[in-house]
Amino acid sequence: MNSQVKLTIKTKEKGVALGDMFGLFFEDLNHAADGGLYAELVQNRSFEFDPIDNNTYNALTAWEKVERGGGKEHIYVEETNPLNDKNKHYLVIDILESAGEVGIMNSGYNTGIPLRQGQNYKFSCYAKRDLNFDEKVKLALESVEGNVYAEMLINVDSRTWTKHEVTLTSCGTDFNGRIVITTKGKGKLYLDLVSLFPEKTFNNQSNGMREDIAQLLCDMKPKFMRFPGGCLVHDGSLDSEARDSMYRWKNTIGDVSKRPARRSNWGYNQTLGLGYYEYFKFCEDIGAKPLPVLPAGYNPHQKSSVPINELQPWINDALDVIEFANGDITTTWGAKRAELGHINSFNLEYIGIGNEEIGEPFFERYAYFHKAIKRIYPDIKIINSSGPFATGGEYERGWKSAKENKSDLVDEHYYQSPEWFLTNYHRYDDFKAEDPKVFLGEYATGGNTYYNALAEASFMTGLEKNAHAVGLACYAPMLCNVDYVNWKPNMIWFNNHEVYGTANYYVQKLFMNHQGDNLIKVEAKGLDKPREQKSELFSGKISLAGNETCARFYEIKLTNNDTGEEMLYEDVVYDNKSSVKNVCNTAFENYTLSLKAKRVSGLKGFIIHFGEKDELNKLFWEIGGWQNQDSIVTANAYGRGALLTQSAFNVDTNKEYRLDLEVNGRHIRTYIDGKLINDAVDKPLVIEHLYYSASIESVTGDIIIKVVNVQEVPVTALLVLEGIEQVTVTGSIFEMSGFNLDDENSFKYPKLVSPKQKDINIDEKEFSYEFPKSSITIFRLFGN
Ligand code: AHR
Repeated sequence: MNSQVKLTIKTKEKGVALGDMFGLFFEDLNHAADGGLYAELVQNRSFEFDPIDNNTYNALTAWEKVERGGGKEHIYVEETNPLNDKNKHYLVIDILESAGEVGIMNSGYNTGIPLRQGQNYKFSCYAKRDLNFDEKVKLALESVEGNVYAEMLINVDSRTWTKHEVTLTSCGTDFNGRIVITTKGKGKLYLDLVSLFPEKTFNNQSNGMREDIAQLLCDMKPKFMRFPGGCLVHDGSLDSEARDSMYRWKNTIGDVSKRPARRSNWGYNQTLGLGYYEYFKFCEDIGAKPLPVLPAGYNPHQKSSVPINELQPWINDALDVIEFANGDITTTWGAKRAELGHINSFNLEYIGIGNEEIGEPFFERYAYFHKAIKRIYPDIKIINSSGPFATGGEYERGWKSAKENKSDLVDEHYYQSPEWFLTNYHRYDDFKAEDPKVFLGEYATGGNTYYNALAEASFMTGLEKNAHAVGLACYAPMLCNVDYVNWKPNMIWFNNHEVYGTANYYVQKLFMNHQGDNLIKVEAKGLDKPREQKSELFSGKISLAGNETCARFYEIKLTNNDTGEEMLYEDVVYDNKSSVKNVCNTAFENYTLSLKAKRVSGLKGFIIHFGEKDELNKLFWEIGGWQNQDSIVTANAYGRGALLTQSAFNVDTNKEYRLDLEVNGRHIRTYIDGKLINDAVDKPLVIEHLYYSASIESVTGDIIIKVVNVQEVPVTALLVLEGIEQVTVTGSIFEMSGFNLDDENSFKYPKLVSPKQKDINIDEKEFSYEFPKSSITIFRLFGN
């Protein structure tokens, strides 16, 4: 216990505005949209699934033939007379045997279609018949065994595509349900866009969102929501008509039957049923400012770019989305918005151009977007990009471009270890208020344990304190369907009928619920100096490997930088099958490893492992990493990785590279062919005595104080409320404490790690509080 710690909250010293600081990141990965937030229950509703999306798909994925009581059919997908040219495929049920019933059933996502007793489900489909078909069509909600929960007959009596809509009420609860469509008789029945929505969607919107997931998001009170990604934005073909096109928003609005199916870069199909109009509406429903991110005609994954003289349609996409959101109804795109049902503006304030971009072609193109947008919409805040990493060459290039172009914000992304976040608490202290603001557009500590959430909370107090430099921040990724995982960790996990927020979710929610509008000054006295953990230096095992390549390493030499002593090692051949090849186990702490390397075959480059104490504690230098585009240095401590720095570099086959890795204490430099490529210091873990921030909420006058204690012991502090007028201060305390550091929420225990709320009543202008070990505490002291 440290009784002399004193935090004086200078309630009258109002500081920088916190603006829209804490918001959401939505990316359609992990089936976050289809099979996730988007409430559609039928998978592959338009028979458009294709091996392009995923090599296990075909046009009948998630559908099954139904032949009952002797009925026989031939079902197939054709494209001869489609519903429209965007929705080319449809199902044909060719009845072969008139006895019994024939048809199809859809099994939805996960274990099936979730049905709840007494709930209504809105069915719709497009259908037509041929000359011979004259029977009714039966729609049923059923269990796997064929128990019927709802049933209804419809007449398909037209020979042209006609929309049918009915509501089914389920008489049972079953999370493995099926929608079954059957008929009998003779002839052919044609079906397309077979859809089933729960009648109850979030805010009762048609074509709306799944209520439980949406409610969790709404409860957070996010200031903004970024959409639709992530890599989803800029991966894909440059041709907006191509099946694997990049995300082009104009493909995603209007009649859902006319939205083309698209491949998602995350290995599945996007119906685009959740499109830009729905995103804007959802943002409005949850009170979040919309933040669309658009591609810049450049794909860093494939390194393809649209020629500058063909950039205008891409720039128009950006201009038009602003008009779509904000333009009055006399404008082309404003009229389109009104036609879709929203006369009023969506009040768009932010637009992102590009997602974690690397490569000069992006920055060349960004300037054109920036100029064109600012010329017409000077008040729209434009977000530039600084690559996928927290430091390094591409990061700096992004910032240079942002400063040159006077971007309003710069999108930073980093997924690092909890220790990195704790150590980098002061990351933004020296950033200047007059520079572009940071949009921390993706960050996470690599896990969903309480420890991860605690580290994130500590870092977030640092973001708040640096509101002069940090404009926006959102944790990523946000949503994950447990049966379709592309990425871990995530903030919210769900299956087809349940959802839970992680420990990280509750931290984000606390910070959003209690953000406040302006910082207020906190004067801290008696805090111990930040504690630097004693860390070992990088002696240890050195080994070599190809990075998904066959490679040869030769002229391998290790020099002791203190004594000049040199050791030579035998050549290493890496065949891309064996494990890494050990070179030596060095006791030197200051050394240079020099070697030559050649890629014999394969697509990437080399990996040098060094400073290896054991499997969980080691460093890597990757040359030609990711998609053979990077030179990266990463440190793994306790199995948790932190990327120290990155620069662009690609490796060619049969070319000789001279590689030098210079390690001096915790300072690492890498050189390729004599040129400095990476320069990084792996800082030892630093723990602050307490992490804290304070703010005031304008409307209520509430004072909000956040304190994070990451230590394994409680810390007692005297909190002094300077300048407060009330005699008695009342309020609430929201606290996360008493958990094991590795505790996690789950479907079974969805709120195991979540805050507790208690009242606070203070008669003095100061009070002593014991911050429990490993705790997050937020005081909300009522103002009015
Ligand atoms: O958040 C998941 C992915 O991480 C995003 O798509 C991408 O921007 C980043 O690399």
